[in-house]
Amino acid sequence: MKKKHVLVTGGAGFIGRWVVKQLLEKGHRVTALDNLSTGSPENIAEFEGNPEFAFVEGTILDPKSIEALFRENPFGACFHLAADIVVQDSIDRPGQVFENDVKGTFNVLEACRRVGTRFLFMSTCMVYERSQEWSGIAESHPTKPVSPYGAFKIAGEAMTLSYWHAYGLPVTVVRPFNTYGPYQRADGEGGVVAVFTKRKLEGKPLQIYGDGTQTRDLMEVTDCARFVVMAGMSDKTRGEILNAGTGRDVTINQLAEIISGGRVPIEHVPHIHPQSEIPKLLCNYKKARDLLGWRPKVKLEDGLQLVEQWMERQAS
Ligand SMILES: NC(=O)c1ccc[n+]([C@@H]2O[C@H](COP(=O)([O-])OP(=O)(O)OC[C@H]3O[C@@H](n4cnc5c(N)ncnc54)[C@H](O)[C@@H]3O)[C@@H](O)[C@H]2O)c1
Repeated sequence: MKKKHVLVTGGAGFIGRWVVKQLLEKGHRVTALDNLSTGSPENIAEFEGNPEFAFVEGTILDPKSIEALFRENPFGACFHLAADIVVQDSIDRPGQVFENDVKGTFNVLEACRRVGTRFLFMSTCMVYERSQEWSGIAESHPTKPVSPYGAFKIAGEAMTLSYWHAYGLPVTVVRPFNTYGPYQRADGEGGVVAVFTKRKLEGKPLQIYGDGTQTRDLMEVTDCARFVVMAGMSDKTRGEILNAGTGRDVTINQLAEIISGGRVPIEHVPHIHPQSEIPKLLCNYKKARDLLGWRPKVKLEDGLQLVEQWMERQAS
């Protein structure tokens, strides 16, 4: 594989730092751009001193500084992960999240268009219409914006693909299913695995929104990052939308049982946004397997252990 200089927006975030790590391991040069709104310097401390890594603290909301960054660096690819990702925030403050997730994406995409930089847009499984399909949700499944977050991701996807059709800019849209693993924040609603595991270690009851029958296809973050890197580097994915997940979904009730292991009680609390809940999320990743040879490697039970061990190390 040809070595590239890759810009990773949101590179100091949870998934971003794993994408940075895998790119560096493959011998690429990496610049991470992040405003540290939810990302943190600790996430990227491991790469400090690596001459192939640079961190730029800045925002995707400032087109001038993005333009300057692209002028100074001939990026061969841009992996755009920076976003506000909390569904409830998008419901409470749609204008602010629109700026970040739609206008911010536009700014980065424009910078890529000017110099012809390959662009990967990090979308999400939260764009899909509900499905009971036993074989999982494939990319051809209809989308439905049940939250502003989902809508803004669909907007980002549409802008991204339009740059392929209108300008021939090499782009790829990826829709990872729910991702968990070390370095995920345990506050807020973002990471159910992180939140549950932290509460278990603190001896607190696990709180499930609603009846807990909603399902998630939970992918360990190193599998997600490997998928993102493969999708963003392959010539076969230009102009394509690709899913990644494990092909196995669990209910939030089952997940709570596994994580608790009988050590802390499980409670049900009213859902904060039942209207924006997606009742079943199960991934069909056949396209990624066929195009890239990608498949998930980490079993849920093993991944959950990794999170618990990481949190215990953080606490000690
Ligand atoms: N976590 C999941 O389950 C999941 C699943 C599918 C897709 N995604 C997508 O993956 C991406 C990364 O998500 P994550 O879970 O790592 O969340 P995260 O919050 O840890 O990462 C987002 C990063 O973007 C940065 N950021 C936000 N606004 C910015 C701005 N204006 N300028 C520069 N940086 C900015 C944040 O500081 C943070 O480091 C997001 O696009 C998200 O929508 C996440």
